[in-house]
Amino acid sequence: MNIFIILFLFIFLNISNVLTTENVIPESVKLALTKSKNQMRVTWYTIDISSAPTILYSTEMFEPIEDSTFSSIGDVISYDTIGFDGKINTAIMSSLSASTMYFYCVGDKSSNVWSPIFNFTTNQFDAPFGQVIPFTTSFFGDMGWIEGNSLNSDVYTVDNLLSRINEIQILHHVGDIAYADKQKSHDLPGNQTIWNKFQNSISPLSSHLPYLTCPGNHDRFIDLSVYTKTWQMPVDFESDSWYSYDYNGIHFVGFSSEHDYFPLSSQHIWIENDLKQYRKSNPNGWIVMYSHRPFYCSVVWDWCSNIDVVESKKIYLWSLEDLLYRYNVDLFISGHAHSYERTLPVYKNKIMGDINSPKATVHIVVGTGGDVEGEDMVWQNLQTWTTGIRTSINGFGLLNVINSTTLNWQFIANINNTIVDEFNLTKGQFDF
Ligand SMILES: *[C@@H]1O[C@H](CO)[C@@H](O)[C@H](O)[C@H]1NC(C)=O
Ligand SMILES: *[C@@H]1O[C@H](CO)[C@@H](O)[C@H](O)[C@H]1NC(C)=O
Ligand SMILES: *[C@@H]1O[C@H](CO)[C@@H](O)[C@H](O)[C@H]1NC(C)=O
Ligand SMILES: *[C@@H]1O[C@H](CO)[C@@H](O)[C@H](O)[C@H]1NC(C)=O
Ligand SMILES: *[C@@H]1O[C@H](CO)[C@@H](O)[C@H](O)[C@H]1NC(C)=O
Ligand SMILES: [Fe+2]
Repeated sequence: MNIFIILFLFIFLNISNVLTTENVIPESVKLALTKSKNQMRVTWYTIDISSAPTILYSTEMFEPIEDSTFSSIGDVISYDTIGFDGKINTAIMSSLSASTMYFYCVGDKSSNVWSPIFNFTTNQFDAPFGQVIPFTTSFFGDMGWIEGNSLNSDVYTVDNLLSRINEIQILHHVGDIAYADKQKSHDLPGNQTIWNKFQNSISPLSSHLPYLTCPGNHDRFIDLSVYTKTWQMPVDFESDSWYSYDYNGIHFVGFSSEHDYFPLSSQHIWIENDLKQYRKSNPNGWIVMYSHRPFYCSVVWDWCSNIDVVESKKIYLWSLEDLLYRYNVDLFISGHAHSYERTLPVYKNKIMGDINSPKATVHIVVGTGGDVEGEDMVWQNLQTWTTGIRTSINGFGLLNVINSTTLNWQFIANINNTIVDEFNLTKGQFDF
């Protein structure tokens, strides 16, 4: 072979190798639960396609490639929505032990490019079904990413959660995730820079704790495929945006207020079936349910004031509220309204007992993550079902699971990282 061709090939291969290597550096590392208790999913973003998207993991600290105990090869998924580019990598760690710390990194095995080493700890999934084991989880909605660090940004929520990272075991973002369809007051069709910046801003949390989501109206873009590909949840079927899982004796159900939820829709049928099955197996267990849109809220705003006709809260209530009542859903948590408020136990606008003896679901709105649109400041007159506890300051919720009869809830203000509302909810039986 001609020496020049060899030289050319040598240089070309080297350059292309450098480019490929940079383009498979993992970003936006996120943990999520799967349908199996002893698994953990990791998803991460790369600019280019990895030949072998891989998780290396071990119960001991390790150096990538040489000495991790386990490895798992995953899949690469492409965005095919206009304005979105790059690859989602996803792989699953299997056969994990309960209550065990694992170290892991992700990357491309074929080009030997790896993320830093992260760690997470599995929960006590080997405990008997339904046994309540104390733990803390956070709930927040409507966060988004904004350049800078004003109180109206994700920075405070992320930093305040990071300050408690050793006390929290799992995170729930109840929709309106990145606000990648908004920049200041301008609507965008979907902006991947913002989408990715958001994920990078939460990755100190999401690389260490499972980060569970449900879609909000600001996650819809042209269609919901960007959302479902990025946030892979413990769904029964790949195309679903609704799922449930059991964690330390609590049954969590996350559903989508951005899909059909009318009676006879596939989501409605799924929700009813899930609740029915769970209640059969554990009549007295806690059920915590969440989605983006609230059933009860009292800011002056179209959804809460029942002015929205196309997306009507009345139809939402009519479609789903009976299920919450019939299957004794103890707590329902949402966002959408950029405010914090909580109700007394309520069904069909009627007060049903109190937090010491609830006869219906207690509803919490925590759409206070600090998004680009700002807070909702104007309130309707007090409704019958209100506790009177409502505020427009930004913050996030902590659900502290105490035992089989008590849940503790705290709302933390971002401005001073301290509790501004707290209550204990006693387990109630709704139907007698
Ligand atoms: C595990 O990760 C957390 C959060 O990133 C970090 O603070 C901690 O030092 C890590 N633990 C070990 C043993 O490396
Ligand atoms: C997307 O957002 C980034 C960051 O705010 C901005 O620089 C860029 O211009 C936006 N792209 C479009 C197409 O609006
Ligand atoms: C649960 O915790 C509460 C609050 O500490 C306590 O009053 C109650 O007796 C406990 N219930 C059980 C079943 O342990
Ligand atoms: C924290 O800030 C909130 C909201 O401004 C305020 O209501 C509360 O009193 C403050 N708490 C402390 C301990 O400073
Ligand atoms: C909730 O219960 C715990 C444990 O009994 C107690 O320490 C705490 O003060 C209670 N909180 C409220 C707001 O009632
Ligand atoms: Fe919303």
